[in-house]
Amino acid sequence: MAEPGPMCDIIKAMKNLTIDPERLWDDLMDTAQIGGTPKGGICRLTLTDLDRQVRDWLRAQAEALGCTVTIDDMGAMFARRPGQRNDIPPIAMGSHLDTQPTGGKFDGALGVLAALEALRTLHRAGYETFAPIEVVNWTNEEGSRFAPAMIASGVFAGAFTREWACARQDRNGETFGAALDQIGYRGEQRCGEHPLSAFFEVHIEQGPYLEAEGEDVGVVTGVQAIRWYEVTLIGQDSHAGTTPMPSRHDALLGAARLIEAVNAAALAYPGAVGTVGILEVKPGSTNVIPGEVFFTIDMRDPDMSVLDRMESDVAAAAEKARGELGLEITIKNIFNQPPQAFDPGCIAAVREAAKVSGYSTRDMMSGAGHDAAYVARVAPSSMIFVPCKDGISHNEAEHSTKEQCAAGAQVLLQAVIEYDRRLAERLGGK
Ligand code: GLV
Ligand code: MN
Ligand code: MN
Repeated sequence: MAEPGPMCDIIKAMKNLTIDPERLWDDLMDTAQIGGTPKGGICRLTLTDLDRQVRDWLRAQAEALGCTVTIDDMGAMFARRPGQRNDIPPIAMGSHLDTQPTGGKFDGALGVLAALEALRTLHRAGYETFAPIEVVNWTNEEGSRFAPAMIASGVFAGAFTREWACARQDRNGETFGAALDQIGYRGEQRCGEHPLSAFFEVHIEQGPYLEAEGEDVGVVTGVQAIRWYEVTLIGQDSHAGTTPMPSRHDALLGAARLIEAVNAAALAYPGAVGTVGILEVKPGSTNVIPGEVFFTIDMRDPDMSVLDRMESDVAAAAEKARGELGLEITIKNIFNQPPQAFDPGCIAAVREAAKVSGYSTRDMMSGAGHDAAYVARVAPSSMIFVPCKDGISHNEAEHSTKEQCAAGAQVLLQAVIEYDRRLAERLGGK
């Protein structure tokens, strides 16, 4: 037993550093009502009024804890709790509050709300960290309304310019910049001018491995490469009843051949994935041969050279369709994120945190994209995964249990404390 005095106070404070699973769960369930769908998911597209509502909620929660909230000009939110040394950059934790159109309750929300819960735990225990600690909400992680994904963290890391980001248009022609102004979340700070000592992100795995292998926590070592393309095919609108088959320039038939080629390209390389998620057909009439089609391609693999080969396979299929069907085909690469390895120091802090919290772990590479992959370019970063039911995500049925969410938040808190301790040791504090 420690003698009464400062040491005893520290030990007492550390004993209280257990996150509250009920409080975290209540936050997840309560905020899921903002954009809640009848099937139990969330439709909270980025920079909509629903996004504003959840952002306002987060800001109010953080301010109630005495945090200062800074917003940058990409709408990223940073809620800061001061530390002992406020001249050094904060250790940040967070994720995103936007969702897919048929999103679940956990993708992104868990990372932000677990971070808030970790911050509350520090606050209630009166634990003074060495560095300031921040909760971050990144804008447009999903890339569902404005392509590509991870726009704010991409600008933060210098992968995109703010001008390019602000000019991105949704499918109705509204720009990212206008939508940011519309909800009142274009902040004063220049995106990227917010140094971080480290960044940690908790997320549901969104895949099947942790659940299948009965492990509690994924220690994420990196994120695989992602490429997105926008494809436009121009043929000729024409009468469905009178245009002989050999005379047609059917843009949708060309798209069908390319969609099949995307699937075949992914199947040709073990582990690679390829998806067509948006398809728009014009003019969209039963008895008109489609003269124009737009579709998107998402390709992923840990190895960039595999993506190069998949891209060549699809380009060859496009060349063939162009010749056979007399189409104009444009394939535009709009997003090219290389694989990203996480920082060994942050990975070690997560591993240690899981161990002291009594959770079993498995190292893994992320199949999904995450803000941490961009942040890792400018600050030491890593991620913590928790299992989700049947590996299902980007689906309203997405589910992780209260205990699984709590494990993620607890490991996050411990990892931040561990990283803070090492930082203090290195910089001679505490
Ligand atoms: C984000 O959800 C992504 O992996 O695309
Ligand atoms: Mn996510
Ligand atoms: Mn997602």
